[in-house]
Amino acid sequence: MKSFVGGRVTITLSDITREAVDAAVNAANGSLMGGGGVDGAIHRAGGPGILAACKQIRATRYPDGLPTGEAVITTAGRMPARYVIHTVGPVYRGGNSGEAGKLANCYRNAISIAAERKLATLAFPAISTGVYGYPSVEAAAVSSQAIERALDAHPSIREVRLVFFRESDAETFLRHQVFTR
Ligand code: APR
Repeated sequence: MKSFVGGRVTITLSDITREAVDAAVNAANGSLMGGGGVDGAIHRAGGPGILAACKQIRATRYPDGLPTGEAVITTAGRMPARYVIHTVGPVYRGGNSGEAGKLANCYRNAISIAAERKLATLAFPAISTGVYGYPSVEAAAVSSQAIERALDAHPSIREVRLVFFRESDAETFLRHQVFTR
């Protein structure tokens, strides 16, 4: 599979719950109480320890829920990853409600938390491109630009693995990414 940004960004077809990285990123919702898609898969694979950690975060730092674009980190429970970084992508409402900036914030904030915690490898799903309806073509341009900028800002991050569930999604991403190297 292709790689970008000097080999620091890799593209893979798999189930993110099986990725043995320092942090797997969850496409969560603001409640942090789980859901479907990636969120449901991560909570199922990781087990109740993830929900317990999310409840602790809701009881302390984010009593009203995690705002769109923000990110928090928890245990990964039984998953091969060491941590889960939960972030809330924007619901796509046509593209004129600041969705691109909010989606970029998800990638930027997740990578920033990983760097702060001295984590070197992350796996991302295609945030917001499922239930939240973000068109994959637009999301590819936004996410690739945000990832490259975040990697330039955080040289300690060794690998960002972009995990696609379906081959067609990986192909769309590869056609519309805007990495410069
Ligand atoms: N591994 C990797 N990618 C996956 C997996 C998986 N196990 N399951 C789904 N995907 C892909 C989907 O095909 C989609 O391309 O992840 C992308 C994101 O889809 P969603 O999980 O629907 O996430 P999102 O669009 O951000 O919607 C978030 O959905 O599950 C709820 O609680 C969640 O309310 C939140 C909303």
